[in-house]
Amino acid sequence: MKKYSGNKVSTAIFISGRGTNLKSLISFSHKKISPIKIDLVFSNKRKASGLKFAKEKKIKILLLNEKFFYNSERKLVKILNEKNIELICLAGFMKILSSSFIKRFKGRIINIHPSLLPKYKGLNTHKRVLEKKENYTGCSVHFVNSKLDSGKIILQKKVKILKKDNEKKLAKRVLSLEHKLYPQAIMKIFS
Ligand code: GAR
Repeated sequence: MKKYSGNKVSTAIFISGRGTNLKSLISFSHKKISPIKIDLVFSNKRKASGLKFAKEKKIKILLLNEKFFYNSERKLVKILNEKNIELICLAGFMKILSSSFIKRFKGRIINIHPSLLPKYKGLNTHKRVLEKKENYTGCSVHFVNSKLDSGKIILQKKVKILKKDNEKKLAKRVLSLEHKLYPQAIMKIFS
């Protein structure tokens, strides 16, 4: 991405659920130092509770038919283009985007994942990390390519696994790191 010159980049956030990363990105976007402004929140789930954060700040919300998501992708592209969206941040977006969609926005889609990629791609990361008795885990922000959780890593944060950790405790600690990491990764791609 081009170095931030003072004109905030029009950004869309894609979510599917609770949206705590969306919430943290919204408050980051309001800061003067933020290179992004959030012009659209897209959810593939009508009932995603995280949509409330967009509503509170009067950010435009887009919902498309869940069952026919792939047919809706064309409509999604049209709206992203109409709104001149330059950056797409996936934040707990649990749908795999088609390779043609990814190609169209090449280098402009980023994702946050709750593990130290390339380890533990996919779902249930904390459960698998604990089962493997890892000493550390963390979170990663990466560019999205056509393979799941595999694009170039932008930034990672590491967290030590404690003896008393269970899945819930670990998920909570990693999530609070995620809320710091995503804004830092965005700053990095525009620096
Ligand atoms: C976050 O932990 C995010 O890293 C993860 O979903 C959660 C969404 O939480 N994403 C993935 O697992 C993507 N592979 P949130 O809705 O509260 O931001």
